[in-house]
Amino acid sequence: MTQKLDSLELLYKAFDGLSVEGGWHRRAPALWPEPRKNFVPFRWRYADVKPILDAAGDLVDHAMADRRNLTMTNPVEGNLYATVRSMVAAYQLIKPGETADAHRHTPNALRIILEGKGTYTVVNGMRVEMRPGDVLLTPSWAWHSHSSNGNEDCYWVDVLDVPLVHLMEGMFFERHPDKLEPNVVDADSSPIAFRWEDSVAALETAQAPANGMAEREIQLGNPALRTVALHVQRLNAGFRSAQYRTTANSIFTVIQGRGRTVVDDEVIEWSMGDVIAVPAWRTYRHEVDSESFMVRSSDEPVMRSIDMLREEVLTPAIA
Ligand SMILES: [Fe+2]
Repeated sequence: MTQKLDSLELLYKAFDGLSVEGGWHRRAPALWPEPRKNFVPFRWRYADVKPILDAAGDLVDHAMADRRNLTMTNPVEGNLYATVRSMVAAYQLIKPGETADAHRHTPNALRIILEGKGTYTVVNGMRVEMRPGDVLLTPSWAWHSHSSNGNEDCYWVDVLDVPLVHLMEGMFFERHPDKLEPNVVDADSSPIAFRWEDSVAALETAQAPANGMAEREIQLGNPALRTVALHVQRLNAGFRSAQYRTTANSIFTVIQGRGRTVVDDEVIEWSMGDVIAVPAWRTYRHEVDSESFMVRSSDEPVMRSIDMLREEVLTPAIA
C-alpha cells in the first residue's frame, strides 16, 4: 500500500527515483532576471600562438592531424572547448605542399585569412585561393579540403558553430571516401569567398553602424551562415566606440591595426591577428590607436530567429 505523503519531507523523498523536481524547490534556479556572466572575455594573442603553431607544424604531420589547428578555449572553469557559448575559434596552419583531406560536418564554418598566399580551399568541388583578409565560408554539410601550392605558410582563424551543434545534439561528420573531391573546378569569385579588396572598397562608402561600435561597417552575406553573422568593421585612429551590449555572443578577429577593447572593467589590448571573445550581454567599447579592421563573428542570426536578440547602447561613440 502506498504511503500517504502528508509532510514536505515525505513529498521531497518521493521525488527521488522518479526524476522529478518541484518548481518551488529547485536544486538550481532555472530562470533569472538577465543573462549571467558565464563565459569570460578573453584575448588570444597571435604573436603568442604563432610560434606554437609553427612548432606543431614541425612536430605534427598532416597525416596524423585531420586539421592542424589550435582551438581557443574560453578559460572559464568547466569549459573544455568553446570560445564563447555558441562558437569556437581556432588558429590553423597549412604549410607549402600540404593538403588537408576533404570532410564534411553539420557545423557551419568560416575562415578568416591572416597570412600567406598560394593556399586553396575546395568547397563542394569549387577551388578558390585564400588570401590575407579574405573570408571563406563552409556551410553545413559542404565537402571541404585545403591545400597549398605556394611557398608560404598560410595562417588563418577558423570560426565554427560546433558548441551550438553540441547543445542541439545535431552532430554528423564524415571523411570523403576518396580523400579529396574529384572534378574540382577553379574559380576566383564564388558565393563562399569574400575578398579583402572588395571589403575594403565597400567600407569606403559604408555607413556607420547604428550601434556606434565602428566608424564604418559592412555585413558579409545576409547573414553569411545560418547561425553566424559576419561584420567587417573599420575603426580609424583615435576612434572611441559606443559602450554597448548585446545578447549575441561575439568573436573579434583583428585583421589590421592596434587598440583595446574594454569589456566590463577589463582592458584587453589587441593588434593584428589577435582574437577577442566578448560573451553575451557584456558591456564593451573599443579604443583605437591606429587604423584598424576587425571581423566580428556573432551568433546574431540564431538570437534573432528565436526573438532573443536584445541590444543596448549605453553611451554613444566619439569620432
Ligand atoms: Fe571542417
